[in-house]
Amino acid sequence: MQDDRVIIFDTTLRDGEQSPGASLSVEEKVTIAHQLARLEVDVIEAGFPISSEAQFEATRRIAKEVEGPVIAGLARAVKEDIDRAWQALREAKRPRIHTFIATSDIHIRSKFSSEKYGRTMEEKKERILEMAVEAVRYAKGYIPDVEFSPEDAGRTDPDYLCRVVEAVIDAGATTVNIPDTTGYTMPEEFGGLIRTLFRKVPNVHKAIISVHCHNDLGLAVANSLAAVKEGARQVECTINGLGERAGNAALEEIVMALKVRKDILGVDTGINTREIYRTSRLVAHLTGIDVQPNKAIVGANAFAHESGIHQDGVLKERATYEIMRPEDIGLEKSRIVLGRHSGRHGFKARLGELGYRLSEEEFERAYEKFKELADKKKEVYDEDIAAIVEGEMFRVPQTFTLDYFHISSGTGTIPTATVKVKRGKEVVQEAAWGDGPVDAAYKAIKRATGMEDVRLSDYTIRSVTGGTEALGEVTVRLEAEGRKVVGRGTSTDIIEASVLAFLDGLNKFVALPREA
Ligand code: KIV
Ligand code: ZN
Repeated sequence: MQDDRVIIFDTTLRDGEQSPGASLSVEEKVTIAHQLARLEVDVIEAGFPISSEAQFEATRRIAKEVEGPVIAGLARAVKEDIDRAWQALREAKRPRIHTFIATSDIHIRSKFSSEKYGRTMEEKKERILEMAVEAVRYAKGYIPDVEFSPEDAGRTDPDYLCRVVEAVIDAGATTVNIPDTTGYTMPEEFGGLIRTLFRKVPNVHKAIISVHCHNDLGLAVANSLAAVKEGARQVECTINGLGERAGNAALEEIVMALKVRKDILGVDTGINTREIYRTSRLVAHLTGIDVQPNKAIVGANAFAHESGIHQDGVLKERATYEIMRPEDIGLEKSRIVLGRHSGRHGFKARLGELGYRLSEEEFERAYEKFKELADKKKEVYDEDIAAIVEGEMFRVPQTFTLDYFHISSGTGTIPTATVKVKRGKEVVQEAAWGDGPVDAAYKAIKRATGMEDVRLSDYTIRSVTGGTEALGEVTVRLEAEGRKVVGRGTSTDIIEASVLAFLDGLNKFVALPREA
């Protein structure tokens, strides 16, 4: 490995999926993994195979189907976990087992309180060190590429951490990852910890030193960059910074910081940055977790210039207020605005320019939607096209479709809804009243589909572009019998968008296999 190359280890599908509210089906994870391969990440952590059947299956499918990156599976430092990880990874061309055990006093005290790990803290630490070494050796029995993480390294006694790192490298770990599990450290401090490892661990150069930072104090990216400056050559991160609590270090921020400030950090990544925006959109779409507008790199405002002085400056010389170009992350400025007269060719050409690869069937459905929209809206922007295409590309079979809906609501009236829902040739009509028009429509749909147990746990609406004729995009999170799905619907009529989002969610309950 060249010393000026940083390995990008994406853990969107493992740590990222631990984001509150994010739950992806196996199929959705495979779709994201293919996009991560197009983004040219070096490693995809596909899951934690022993934690559930669904995690196992997602890891297995990604290992089998996704080519290019190394595919990693997580395992605690115990044999059963490592066996299960290997079973999931065995069809990968380049598999990696990532095994971990907690090393900070606070974790050891609560997780290893049983006397079987020793009576004193010193005894427990010795036992944990042995368990780490045994786990690495055991994983090496399956494959050469083994990563070890001392969990909560950020709060681990540095001398003990050095001993653990040295021992696991001796046992054959090819990557040693230093997680700041609780996002507690400061950049100077975390960089200092990495510096200490390079100074004090005699065999440190026999492995790649990696970092994995959480964002509880908003410092995950800063801490990761501080570590790179001190010699870390793998960074673990997630798309849009998804992850437990406040999330993990955001991949797009790490990669663009390393690119834009190569003058300071002096390292490269292998990322195809022109795929960043598309990957961010895909992850937001499938997890149902939107990106905040002012989010660095991929937020809607990241390249928007609002004030007159800034706009004037950028028009005269872009570099006055832009440190990177939108094209660098694959965000093409809309040169063409499509409309009613654009036709098939124009639509297809723009899809190609935006980088969408649709099957014939998907294209036909997207084109129909585009025509409907162009009839309602004079100008169709790239954002509208993205909303249409994303809706079509990830569509499950449509058990239920909307035939008709009518809403009555207003000041002083009881909101009521009448819906007709088609299931095959059968059309079922129902009516209901509710707290508002959306509530009334959802009650009527539940009756018409017989899916009365479904619970709406979240509802968000956003305007895809500006203006009163804009397309509204509704995202709903639905739960039933312990399962969770995300439904989306778009329309220039926000009640229709709400109805379509709800039906999309119900169709997912029917179409997606039950996953443990
Ligand atoms: O945050 C953490 O410590 C982790 C490890 C399992 C690497 O996610
Ligand atoms: Zn983590």
